[in-house]
Amino acid sequence: MRMFQNLCGADKTYCNLYDGGWVKPSSGAYIEILSPVDGSLVGRVPAMSREDVDRAVANSKETLQSWAEAPIYERAQVFYRAADLLEEHAEEIGHVLTMEIAKDKKSAVYEVQRTADFLRYTADAGKGIAGEAISGDNFPGGSKNKISYVSRVPLGTVLAISPFNYPINLSVSKIAPALIGGNTVLLKPATQGSISALYLARVMQEAGLPRGVLNTITGRGSEIGDYIVTHPGVNFINFTGSTEVGRHISKLSAMVPLMLELGGKDAAIVLPDADMDFTADNIISGAYAYSGQRCTAVKRILAQDDVADQLVPRLLSRIVKLQVGDPRDNAVIVPLINTKAADFVMSLIDDAVAKGATVLTGGTRNGDLIQPTLIDHVTTDMRLAWEEPFGPVLPILRVKDMQDAIDIANHSEYGLQSSVFTNNIHDAFFVAGQLEVGTVQINSKTERGPDHFPFLGVKASGMGTQGVKYAIEAMTRPKAVVFNLDMKSH
Ligand code: NAP
Ligand code: G3H
Repeated sequence: MRMFQNLCGADKTYCNLYDGGWVKPSSGAYIEILSPVDGSLVGRVPAMSREDVDRAVANSKETLQSWAEAPIYERAQVFYRAADLLEEHAEEIGHVLTMEIAKDKKSAVYEVQRTADFLRYTADAGKGIAGEAISGDNFPGGSKNKISYVSRVPLGTVLAISPFNYPINLSVSKIAPALIGGNTVLLKPATQGSISALYLARVMQEAGLPRGVLNTITGRGSEIGDYIVTHPGVNFINFTGSTEVGRHISKLSAMVPLMLELGGKDAAIVLPDADMDFTADNIISGAYAYSGQRCTAVKRILAQDDVADQLVPRLLSRIVKLQVGDPRDNAVIVPLINTKAADFVMSLIDDAVAKGATVLTGGTRNGDLIQPTLIDHVTTDMRLAWEEPFGPVLPILRVKDMQDAIDIANHSEYGLQSSVFTNNIHDAFFVAGQLEVGTVQINSKTERGPDHFPFLGVKASGMGTQGVKYAIEAMTRPKAVVFNLDMKSH
């Protein structure tokens, strides 16, 4: 079965999920999604107007009460069915991901499978949502005759905005915890990535999600983004994307609670006693997978001279083995998402070279494909020391000692993750304790998963905590009902 066959009339034309069905944009306007792989047309998605957005929000309000009142067990059943459907269609959806965002075939299929696991885990976690009863006499002057019965209730309509690099997984990481908590959801995916996200919506529909509980909104963020995030019908915004857009949204969203997962500049701090081969393996896959287009990619190495000297040949010998080219052939180094992204990465390389850094390999481009690049002797006056390339470029900053590495790591505006590689447990915990990030990885590349771990950024890397349990908590609130058992008047 092809999941979208005949749903919207013309071939390669997609509609939005609205009130349980598939609707065309009222204006008739579409956005063409071209593949970063070969420039071919992946499809056309609706450019929704403000009126279309208003309808989607109103519809999600109509269904809020019935979904909030649906037994959690029933909500969970939809997730189990959706997970099965995702796995059944993993190859088909994986192919869409590959063509739409140039993710290698294996990682694309893995993203779909990981998402199925996320749905099942969230369904299980949802069944564990429990309230509590608090006796008044725990507090001075209180009485056993006052009991607060505390349950968790949904916030209302959640606006989920997802980025291009994980259109399926980072949509579900918002949608699933929101829905299991009884919220309705409006999903606004990245425009380049929206066809993949519409496949996900199709799966949720097919799995039996009641009408209006999930509606999708497609259209350019630059055109309708501000309108959606300031819509009075939105009760929570769950955003993943760049720090620039995240900051912009946080300025606009007065009094509406936010969860922000933003950019990063994850450091790999390598101490002299680290296992250099093991470290090099981790750094290579951490830095270059999907051409570095991951928030958690290793984005700088901080090491003393002698350590850097040992690492460089090990890194170079691994970089030459990276497959470069077509994601359909499972290449790791693939064309970046668009020309603007490739231009930006090249500008960081050019700036570093102009200021005296040494390109050890790479540094060239073929269209939007940038060769895996390793740059040594990057210094703190270079943009590459601080800015997030979101491309296959890894700078080495040579540091004086462990404290210098910690100071440079912390000087970043970002605070997503960082790694420390060492065989000394005391140093590992010392460095971990000093780093101003959401997560420190000891002897591993930086990475998000497993998806039930807390995942968060500090400083310009975000606000709020993802991870199944934490996201459910963030998108529900306590509701207290106080029983006053003593009816005597005082
Ligand atoms: P982006 O350009 O910030 O876009 C993210 C999302 O925001 C897209 O859906 C985009 O829609 C939408 N958007 C743009 N302007 C908007 C506005 N004014 N109002 C509302 N929505 C708006 O980011 P990206 O290029 O897709 O993703 C790469 C960035 O995301 C990197 O910085 C990366 O580090 C970060 N990221 C962080 C995490 C994390 O967990 N911390 C995970 C993944 C990615 P359009 O596509 O239509 O513009
Ligand atoms: O791009 C941001 C994702 O949250 C990273 O996930 O570490 O599994 O690639 P990942």
